[in-house]
Order: sequence, then C-alpha cells, then structure tokens
Amino acid sequence: MVRCLKVPLDRGEEIRSELRQKGMLDLSHTIVRDGDHLLIPIVGEAAYQGLEVKDRDLPPIPRKETDYRKLTKIPDELIGSLPSSFDVIGDVAIMKLDEPLFPHAEDIADALMEANGRLRSVALDQGVKGEFRVRDLKLLRGETDLSSIHTEYGVVMEVDPSLAYFNPRLSRERMRVAELVREGEVVVDMFAGVGPFPLMICRHSKPAHVFAIDMNPDAVELMKSNILRNRLDDRITAINDDARDAMRSLPELDRVIMNLPHISEEFIFHALHKLKAGGMIHLYKIIERDDLVSFQNRIISIAESSGRNVDIDGIQELKTYSPTMSVYCFDIRC
Ligand SMILES: C[S@@+](CC[C@H](N)C(=O)[O-])C[C@H]1O[C@@H](n2cnc3c(N)ncnc32)[C@H](O)[C@@H]1O
Repeated sequence: MVRCLKVPLDRGEEIRSELRQKGMLDLSHTIVRDGDHLLIPIVGEAAYQGLEVKDRDLPPIPRKETDYRKLTKIPDELIGSLPSSFDVIGDVAIMKLDEPLFPHAEDIADALMEANGRLRSVALDQGVKGEFRVRDLKLLRGETDLSSIHTEYGVVMEVDPSLAYFNPRLSRERMRVAELVREGEVVVDMFAGVGPFPLMICRHSKPAHVFAIDMNPDAVELMKSNILRNRLDDRITAINDDARDAMRSLPELDRVIMNLPHISEEFIFHALHKLKAGGMIHLYKIIERDDLVSFQNRIISIAESSGRNVDIDGIQELKTYSPTMSVYCFDIRC
C-alpha cells in the first residue's frame, strides 16, 4: 500500500509540483486517476493542505537504466575500456573510444541514446584538427546535423562541433574568468570560437566592451547569432580575422583571453602590446606537468623582450590531456 493524496483534477499539476519541491512526492510510484480526482503518492505520513489521505495499491514506476555501460552488448572483456564520461553539447553526445572498441562504436552509441533519452545524435571524436581546431567527428547514430542549443550558467548558445570548436568542460573556468572582470573593463578574447567567454563575461559582469576575434568564419557566424540571442550586441564586437592583425586596431585593454592551448604563447607579444599596466592575460596552454616552472620563465622572458614586466598571479590546472600533460591557465599580470 502507498500513501496518497486525493487531489481534484484541476489542481493536480499545482499540487504535484509543490510536493516535488518540498521533497514530499513519492517518485517511485505512478499517479493514477480516481474519478474526478488524482491519487498522488507521497512520502511520509504528513497530510497536505487539508487534502484527503488514502492508502492505495499504486503501480511502481519501472526504473530506467541510466548507465549506458550496462546497456551495451559488447564482449565482457571490453566493458572495462568503455569511457566513464563523454561530452554533451546541447543534445549531441561526443565520445572518445579506445581502438579495440571501434568495431562496436555503433552499438555503444545505441546504448548511450537508450540511457539518455534527450540525446539526438552521438558522434565519435577523432581529435581536434587544423588551424580552426575543429573536431573530426564521425556520426555514429542519430541526425547528421550536429548543431544544437547549449546552455551554461544562463548563457544560451548555438554550437556546431562539426564547424567550430567548443568545449563544454570549460564552463567553470569561463565563470571564474567572468567573475574576475571588473566594471568598465575593456576585454578581448583573441581566439573566441562561438563566443562562450565573451558571452559569459557580459552575462555575469559589467565590462565596458568585449572584442571577440576568431579566424574561423563559421565560428564567427555562430558567435554573431549567439550575441544577438543573448541580447549583447551593444557590448560584444565579433571580428573575423587573424588575431595578430585584428589586435592592431583595438584600443588599450584591461584583460586578454588567449585560449589556443598548443601555441598561445606565440601571440603574447600582440597581447602585451595592447595591455594596460596592471592588466591581466589568461593564457591557456597544454604542457608537460614537469615543465610548469620552465614555461613560466619562458613567459617572463618573452615579456621582457617586449619591454614589459609580468608576474604570474596564479596557475589553474584545468584538465588532464595525456598521462604526463595537462591544460593549464596562467593568469599573467602585466
Ligand atoms: C581552442 S579554440 C577556443 C575557442 C573558444 N575560446 C572556446 O573556449 O570555446 C581556438 C580558436 O582559435 C581560432 N584561431 C586559431 N588561430 C587563430 C588566429 N591566428 N587568429 C584568430 N583565431 C584563431 C580557431 O579558429 C578556434 O576557434
């Protein structure tokens, strides 16, 4: 027997959502109709809003398996190699697989879609390639159009991982940087992609203006539509150009974001040239964990050769890249 509240039909949704918010809804049993009332299962003994309480035999809600690894039909010896996590961009999942799993990739994608009802497509990530850093994706299941709407910290973005770089795992880092921006700052993102840093900064802080540069025309098209979607067209300027050229025509800057992790440091000169004294660079870099100190010294000497003094204010280790390498953010104060 399950304890239920007898609720008039026209108040069903209102009471159900109130019970859910208060943690009083029994999520393991089905709500059933009883004439012109609903019987809503509750946890505990408490009555609610003077509604009649009844004990009834309600059907249990079958539990859906949410761990895709338990739904795959691959040989047992390979199960341990299945990735425990994967990226979800909007309603598209992107997964990396070890080579022995390649012949089973479609079956794995089926399991992923079965376990995650909101997925529209699953693609295999074959690495980030080329100057535009776009992922080489192989569609495994679902629709071929991989563009979708992705939301992070209240910012709504159209993202298409087959056309432009986007990494959902950097959302917390974007928020960290956004929270550092003070009112009235002029900011540039030299490698802005579809615009997640500029959008997050304007959504959560009050810069005077953010310039967002990217060389990939598809990324800039998506960024422009994202700026409009978030009604930030008076505060962000999207520029489709090589950052080295675009930086020349910008005003003096308080903050520069440099997220091109294989070669960011090659562009430091262009950032330092425009940075105000006291300004900050957030430089993203993939390096060997053992090379942290030598990389800091390298930044300092590149700055000195440009006639600027810099201090490393902080270093964040953002994610593992390989057994010996990680992606870091260096906060460089000029
Ligand atoms: C790693 S992605 C970062 C995108 C974005 N900051 C993000 O977090 O999603 C690097 C971006 O830099 C762009 N890029 C590469 N070289 C560039 C250059 N010389 N000038 C401007 N953009 C460049 C690529 O097209 C790519 O979108």
